[in-house]
Amino acid sequence: MKEQLPVFEVTDLHVRYGAMEAVKGVSFTLARGETLGIVGESGSGKSTIAKTLIGLEKASAGTIINRANSVQMVFQDAVGSLNPRMTVRQTLEEVLSHAAARRRGSSAGYLQGLGTIPEKAAKLLEIVGLSAAVLEQYPREMSGGQCQRVSIARALACEPEVLIADEPVSALDVSVQARILNLLRDLRRNLGLSILLIAHDLAVVKNVCDRVCVMQRGLFVDVGTSADVFEHPQSDYTRHLLAAVPDVARALAARSP
Ligand SMILES: Nc1ncnc2c1ncn2[C@@H]1O[C@H](COP(=O)(O)OP(=O)(O)OP(=O)(O)O)[C@@H](O)[C@H]1O
Ligand SMILES: [Mg+2]
Repeated sequence: MKEQLPVFEVTDLHVRYGAMEAVKGVSFTLARGETLGIVGESGSGKSTIAKTLIGLEKASAGTIINRANSVQMVFQDAVGSLNPRMTVRQTLEEVLSHAAARRRGSSAGYLQGLGTIPEKAAKLLEIVGLSAAVLEQYPREMSGGQCQRVSIARALACEPEVLIADEPVSALDVSVQARILNLLRDLRRNLGLSILLIAHDLAVVKNVCDRVCVMQRGLFVDVGTSADVFEHPQSDYTRHLLAAVPDVARALAARSP
């Protein structure tokens, strides 16, 4: 019953940089089709967890069970993460042409039935809500929000089962943030993706995540459903975060169905 088991099962994870322990024992699961948020201040260890999940850092203790066939990461700096010398078409087609070879086992299958690489690139743009007009554009010719959509499309080219989004909206204007967060919500709904969404503030994750982990100095100080964490915060730190809810929450709330 592989389908029922979480795609990630993390138990008592510790990660050190030399003498400094950045992650001090966190446990969580990411269920199939779930969006899990990790929220906390700068330096609390959020990116370290993400990097350890994809193998860029090594756990010093604890276990990570990864049952996903493919895990892709979307980075905070969308413009910087794209190659400035490549058009959107070149960016997507490069990844698509390597995707089949890199994939472990079966894919999540949302590009299945599409024969050619240009057809797949067009489908990816459609999934992230961009028109085909951007295909011949370079990153410098696009807005921050468009670049973030392209970097999400690039991640989806491998048809991952899990998307890790490390502060995907921090560099964007509030109104654009809401649109990208709605896109993540649609990806979960339409493609069945499991998503780990990392953010600085709770407002960003509130309407997108099923569950939220609040992180402070290497530890989770609050874990629960989004509603629980918002309505019954367990720690002073979470209450402090809740006091600073910016406009994005209102923008999102206005767009909620
Ligand atoms: N490569 C590294 N070498 C040494 N220390 C590091 C390294 N990467 C991160 N750290 C330290 O580990 C701690 C956690 O960093 P991490 O990047 O995981 O935090 P974060 O929660 O993602 O912060 P931010 O919100 O600013 O992105 C910080 O004290 C940071 O300085
Ligand atoms: Mg970080």
